[in-house]
Amino acid sequence: MIEERSVTGAVPLETETLTPDVTGFARAADILGQGGLVAFPTETVYGLGADARNDMAVARIFEAKGRPRFNPLIVHVPDVEAAKRYVAWDDTADRIASAFWPGPLTLVLPLRPGAGLSPLVTADLPTLAIRIPAHPVARALLNAFDGPVAAPSANPSGRISPTEAAHVLAGLSNRIEAVVDGGTCDVGVESTILGLADTPRLLRPGGLPQEALEAALGTPLALYQVGDALTAPGQMTSHYAPGAPVRLNAIKVETTERLLGFGKVDGAALNLSPSGDLTEAAANLFHHLHKLDQEGDSPIAVSPVPERGLGRAINDRLRRAAAPRGT
Ligand code: TXA
Ligand code: MG
Repeated sequence: MIEERSVTGAVPLETETLTPDVTGFARAADILGQGGLVAFPTETVYGLGADARNDMAVARIFEAKGRPRFNPLIVHVPDVEAAKRYVAWDDTADRIASAFWPGPLTLVLPLRPGAGLSPLVTADLPTLAIRIPAHPVARALLNAFDGPVAAPSANPSGRISPTEAAHVLAGLSNRIEAVVDGGTCDVGVESTILGLADTPRLLRPGGLPQEALEAALGTPLALYQVGDALTAPGQMTSHYAPGAPVRLNAIKVETTERLLGFGKVDGAALNLSPSGDLTEAAANLFHHLHKLDQEGDSPIAVSPVPERGLGRAINDRLRRAAAPRGT
């Protein structure tokens, strides 16, 4: 069903409002399983959920929010056992998780390679932001779906985070498949983000006070530093670039070059989307860059990608891949 009526936004979706009961959770899990988008309440704010293993579904999050960049997303899981499938666990993570999960806290930990998450979720970073929410509706949905759910706040990019189902509908109606109406979020601000991939660092203040974390860690926290490579992945000019030089907006391809195509082009080594579908192109972007990187080091030429919708985020990332190295 979902394939037919959605994805590129040509046909507006009719967003379903689901009740927080067995029927609603089953429907929500079903939609997520088909690659659809479901907004749901957590104790902090409403999240816009997608199956974190499904490239197309995650690409659609960025499309629905109109995000101009592929910022990394938080993955939501029901319990610590599930979290350990996706991140490298250690004693500090264990101590903090036992003290504050489930709750308004997100941990950034080393991503387990090969865990099966879409690279769009982490914006291709080696770390993953992960959270076990406490809200009973979020927990019931995560248990019904039985898989990792990537979810940013369920608002259009640049707007205020939603704390009621009505806020979600005001911003994203006809852009997502469903919202589970679970009433008002108690905390009302986003989760606190604690980086544990190296020195414990407060990456974003939020619903859990810094003092509580410092008490549990027994040490003051290093704070977010502007310009810090790890904490500001979206700001780095080239945090991921293939080894080969990258040339953008290529109309003609040199014989020494490999073409990363978009749309109907001849002789592409790989094509982001032969039909010119930006959602498909976003879903393929990191996979194709990695593949070209693994396959050789001759220069990569990239077909023009239109600067609209998801094309903005794709071009933002391609510009980073093409930027002079070491910046
Ligand atoms: O309360 C919340 O945290 C809500 C609910 C839905 O869980 N979610 C939320 O997501 O606020 P979002 O996408 O609006 O904010 C996620 C933040 C972004 O600032 C992103 O840069 C950061 O998490 N982030 C995600 N992965 C990261 C990583 N690997 N390293 C550093 N920061 C990361
Ligand atoms: Mg947000």
